Amino acid sequence: ADQSQIRNFSIIAHIDHGKSTLADRILELTQTVDPRLMRAQLLDSMELERERGITIKSQAVRVYFTSRRDGETYQFHLIDTPGHVDFTYEVSRSLAACEGALLVVDASQGVEAQTLANTYLAVDAGLELIPCLNKIDLPGAEPERVAAEVAELLGEPADAIKRISGKTGEGVLEVLEELVEKVPPPEGDPDAAPRAVIFDSEFDQYRGVVAYIRVVDGTFRKGEAIRAMATGTEADIDDIGYFTPAMTSADHLTVGEVGYVITGIKDVTKLRVGDTITTKRAGAEEALPGYRDVQPVVFCGMFPIEADDYGDLRDALEKLTLNDAALHWEPETSDALGFGFRCGFLGLLHMDIVRERLEREYDLNLMCTMPSVGFEVSLTNGEELHVYNPSDMPEPARIKEIREPYVKATIITPKEYVGTIMELCQDKRGEHDGMTYLSADRVQMMYDLPLSEIVMDFFDQLKSRTRGYASLDYEVTGMKASNLVRLDVLLAGDVVDALSMLVHKDKAYGVGRTLTEKLREKIPRQQYDVPIQAAIGSHIVARETVKAFRKDVTAKCYGGDISRKRKLLEKQKEGKRRMKQVGRVEVPQEAFLAVLELG
Ligand code: GTP
Repeated sequence: ADQSQIRNFSIIAHIDHGKSTLADRILELTQTVDPRLMRAQLLDSMELERERGITIKSQAVRVYFTSRRDGETYQFHLIDTPGHVDFTYEVSRSLAACEGALLVVDASQGVEAQTLANTYLAVDAGLELIPCLNKIDLPGAEPERVAAEVAELLGEPADAIKRISGKTGEGVLEVLEELVEKVPPPEGDPDAAPRAVIFDSEFDQYRGVVAYIRVVDGTFRKGEAIRAMATGTEADIDDIGYFTPAMTSADHLTVGEVGYVITGIKDVTKLRVGDTITTKRAGAEEALPGYRDVQPVVFCGMFPIEADDYGDLRDALEKLTLNDAALHWEPETSDALGFGFRCGFLGLLHMDIVRERLEREYDLNLMCTMPSVGFEVSLTNGEELHVYNPSDMPEPARIKEIREPYVKATIITPKEYVGTIMELCQDKRGEHDGMTYLSADRVQMMYDLPLSEIVMDFFDQLKSRTRGYASLDYEVTGMKASNLVRLDVLLAGDVVDALSMLVHKDKAYGVGRTLTEKLREKIPRQQYDVPIQAAIGSHIVARETVKAFRKDVTAKCYGGDISRKRKLLEKQKEGKRRMKQVGRVEVPQEAFLAVLELG
């Protein structure tokens, strides 16, 4: 298309405010997708995404729209982005490929924490924002109130904000007209040496790396040799094209266009997200600005339940990393759990998704240990360490200082919950950092909090204390010294390395007590009594006992119905798959995650 008729935009929103539904309507109203093939959340192609109703990977679809205002046909590239805080990095990369963004706000809810976070990202990326109040078909919609909040946030008049329903389609065409009018066409020189940024990538088992690109200057053609500027990789373009949302081959992609490139390269590290590609002959000299690397912030051990599966787990992790650059891992050996991997994630949701994909797509049975953050440690001998596993924490006598990651948290809540949130934040070692009113009834609170507290159960507690009305966003800001100690757990007298954790000194006793109680509930009875102890160094701070069991599980079915007995046994077998023999004790998966319920 003519450069002046291209519009590249994202849809940004807080979770569940209706991004994917609006994207569906846009595909439908522009006849991009055959109505007979239309289904909900069309762009969420991963099975997990559809099941959970969340977007995990970005998508980039080409859509043609004929404006009723000027009769011209425009070529849109719609880039759908994930909404959850763990995937903020995907959002910022996608935004860098756009000139505009539809900011979707649920008219029955209002401005939420990720509305703010994503708005700031879009403004930083210099995008033209088109705010829309969504779900106006809902009886509980309060467009006036929410328009005032959005107007306040953007410094724009409230009456200019579009009111739409992604569900019924009301107002959506009007929004597309706004896109044509307000979002500038891509800049970039059609005659300059070609440059494109890789803003995402995917790994296809047969075709290798599929790089999602946005062409910034010039034209890329099928068959041409390209060079990735940071890695120096050279290859020929086997296939080039765009998404409709199916992959559609073309003979070229030109300035401003968004699409994909396939070169047959199988190694994702050779065609990295953030790199600039240019042509091998008469290529560009200067690369486009890249992205900052994302660093994992939450870590846990993943161990195969069957030791024989170790190699398969490694293969699976290697394959997943091809699709998910944010996933980090390295081998780990645990006395309790044997050979496995220490894995790093962007947050708990990311961890959960990876675990589930490993189990589903690779058919593995895993034992995951408690999630923990990464620590920096200064030793008395002047050495500096990074510790990603609490059981690697050196002896207290050797430690001069431990630093842990802190976040700046933004919480948005109806004002009646301000008191309870302050209490919660205080209990989680938070430091208050200001509060503003978004409207007469809704408040934005800022806190500095240790990331480890957020990882535990902060979000669940926030939701339960505010009946689901508060929203949270956070950003890791740096490391701070904390008075942390290592709390060990002993089962039947032996330390179980996979259960060690770092806790603030003032909380160690309380955590030790609750943890041993939780473990007593989770560890099934065995042939003999199992003492559970929590200790700091050699000092025991809490103790519980799992009493030896007496009864056969099938005893209650005697004389009764056979199928019930079989079911029970099957269930037990099912449960048993998630057990790991640790010394003399059988420990179930739940025990390793008990820390998440400490409260
Ligand atoms: P993530 O992908 O998780 O970020 O969510 P999302 O923002 O894409 O939200 P999604 O489109 O999945 O919509 C969330 C829920 O709101 C779904 O149950 C939709 O059916 C519903 N919904 C979306 N738009 C509308 C609307 O205009 N009206 C009504 N009544 N419901 C809507």
